[in-house]
Amino acid sequence: MSSASAVLNATIKNNLPMKDLQELIDRIDPARIPCHVAIIMDGNGRWARMQGKPRSDGHAEGVTSVHRAVEFASDLGIKYLTLYAFSTENWNRPQEEVDTLMYLIGWAIERELPDLLRNNVRIRLIGNIPRIPEDARRRLLGAEEATAHCTGMVLGMCLSYSSRWEITEAARRIASLATGGDLNPDDITEDIFSSHLATAGMPDPDLLIRTGGEERISNFLLWQIAYSELYFTPTLWPDFNKSDFASALIDYQQRERRFGKTSAQVSESPLPDESYGLSD
Ligand code: FPP
Repeated sequence: MSSASAVLNATIKNNLPMKDLQELIDRIDPARIPCHVAIIMDGNGRWARMQGKPRSDGHAEGVTSVHRAVEFASDLGIKYLTLYAFSTENWNRPQEEVDTLMYLIGWAIERELPDLLRNNVRIRLIGNIPRIPEDARRRLLGAEEATAHCTGMVLGMCLSYSSRWEITEAARRIASLATGGDLNPDDITEDIFSSHLATAGMPDPDLLIRTGGEERISNFLLWQIAYSELYFTPTLWPDFNKSDFASALIDYQQRERRFGKTSAQVSESPLPDESYGLSD
């Protein structure tokens, strides 16, 4: 843990001259900032291996990258940033790595708390939180409670999370309401279903970013990303800096979101809510 701590204590850096970053930021249209960005943070292990370091150093450097991404998203006025920090499947990693990740996540959230409060960022835990070990869970729940009044960006932290887990849980709750006579199966709509997901009340992501070069979704927000724009980058998560984030936003802003409509229809009129769910 000592080398991981050394990385954690390193200066938060951006890896790019300010001038170049500013040029990219100037290309972002402030009127079309996505409301919700979700990120699959992949590549910590490969980053560490390439540096000849233990995997724990990759995760520790990944925390630095989280700080950078949160700061950037909050500064740009993104309303929701959701991070895939630990999946249900990650419990199957070697116990030592699981312990390191849990330690880092609990440690980092407590360290970041003053900054989160200063920036009016609200933490929202998403996942099977009772499964998180007691020490990390206490720190996470403490941060969620301490930031509950914040009205700026919502930072969704997906922990012990997988989409299939979430959808199964929602189905179980809905079935239980139906068998108890509190919900008529005929009244089950997409909105009702959404309201039983772990992300209830959050808008669907507009943009999903995955770092680390793999082009898959890995059981992340499967219901919610039905109409999200997907952005894959080979950049490993610990290297993902503000200019990479800005590049993803510029790419997103060049896309036409049609939600099943034709291009002509989209340019004629804004997209109504009911256009969700139609295929293109
Ligand atoms: C994937 O890289 C990354 C993870 C499983 C963990 C991500 C967690 C963090 C960056 C820490 C999060 C901290 C907070 C405070 C949210 P990998 O290990 O699968 O990398 P590899 O594919 O190169 O092996």
